[in-house]
Amino acid sequence: MIEPTPRTSGETYFFRDRGQSDLLRLRLLPELIGRRRAAKTLRLWSAGCASGEEAYSLAILVDMLLPERDGWDIFILGSDINATALAKARRGRYGQWSFRITPPELQQRYFRSSGDEWELDERIRRMVSFRAGDLVSEPCPGGELRDMDLILCRNVFIYFGTDAVRAVADKLAAALSEGGYLMTGHTELMGHRVRNLQSRLFVEGVVYRRLAPLVPLPAGHRPPARVAPPPAVAQRAPGVPPPAAASAEDLLATARELADRGEYAGAEQACRRALSVAPLAPGPHFLLAQLAQLGGDFERAGKLLDQTLYLDPGCVAACLELAALCERTDKLPRARALRRAALDIVRALPGDATVEPYETTAAEMAQWLAQWSTAPAAPQSAPSPSRAS
Ligand SMILES: C[S@@+](CC[C@H](N)C(=O)[O-])C[C@H]1O[C@@H](n2cnc3c(N)ncnc32)[C@H](O)[C@@H]1O
Repeated sequence: MIEPTPRTSGETYFFRDRGQSDLLRLRLLPELIGRRRAAKTLRLWSAGCASGEEAYSLAILVDMLLPERDGWDIFILGSDINATALAKARRGRYGQWSFRITPPELQQRYFRSSGDEWELDERIRRMVSFRAGDLVSEPCPGGELRDMDLILCRNVFIYFGTDAVRAVADKLAAALSEGGYLMTGHTELMGHRVRNLQSRLFVEGVVYRRLAPLVPLPAGHRPPARVAPPPAVAQRAPGVPPPAAASAEDLLATARELADRGEYAGAEQACRRALSVAPLAPGPHFLLAQLAQLGGDFERAGKLLDQTLYLDPGCVAACLELAALCERTDKLPRARALRRAALDIVRALPGDATVEPYETTAAEMAQWLAQWSTAPAAPQSAPSPSRAS
């Protein structure tokens, strides 16, 4: 039996988690927009949206990435169990505390000051619809809860027991289109068995991609579904690294494939073998840092990212990942310095150069990072209710 949702907090703010905002702005949304360019449809869902900041942040990102969108059918949904929060979301008016990490330029561009509040640009407000719903008890997919390209369900699973986490993750997987993404709060699904979702490890954390075809959900609990392994590892049993003579590049490629499939122990083993062949290669250090973060070992992750930057000082991804890690662990001056370093690196590149591993140009990335370099420091602890808007 699934236990009822306990009392929850509606804590939220615009562009929550800079690392995940980077991931959405620089990787996931451009990929999804590219994929949908022929069909001209895009379906995004903020599940557990509280007072709407997350859903509207998505709409603002879409506006930035797709300013010319005539002929597009863009559906952005915010849903929550809390009717009071939804009423606030529909109003589209927020106190300054909702902008605690928003770059001032973005706030000025998309909001109009109105007394003590900031009123969202009507154009953006209309891009989002809201609905009441209980993720645990409501059937899904169904009605408008279907064929989503992206679902954000962040800081919601933390309120659920194990059975509810599994049931809601199953429903959200079924509500995604093939290849669509589910983004949760950091580590919210770690240790839980998720079906029909393949973890994909990005610089800024793990996201889950809907497998195709959908495996019917059994009444009992089965192990998570697996995709067919990529060709490079198809001849080997999953998790078994390549033969002893493999190059560091091959071993790292294998490690990435294993990590993408959620086989973290095998990925770590392949990384270690890559380092035994090439001890000064930055790539394995970087992947080990991501794996350490996934395991919740932030101290080790930080050390590995420092080593990555020592070995490759021009690695933008390592700067941004270490910045996001510093933000999560309250080292805010260091986080700011790292974001500035990333900005300096991309500014030194030709504007049309692609910044690896992001699928974005140096010019676009510089514009995005420049906004954040003027943004206030990210808060790390929950505010007192009196400060929350
Ligand atoms: C901490 S807020 C997260 C808001 C936003 N996703 C973010 O990360 O900033 C958690 C939200 O989850 C909602 N929630 C909790 N249980 C829910 C359920 N069973 N169905 C739908 N929403 C739920 C709460 O009402 C609350 O607004």
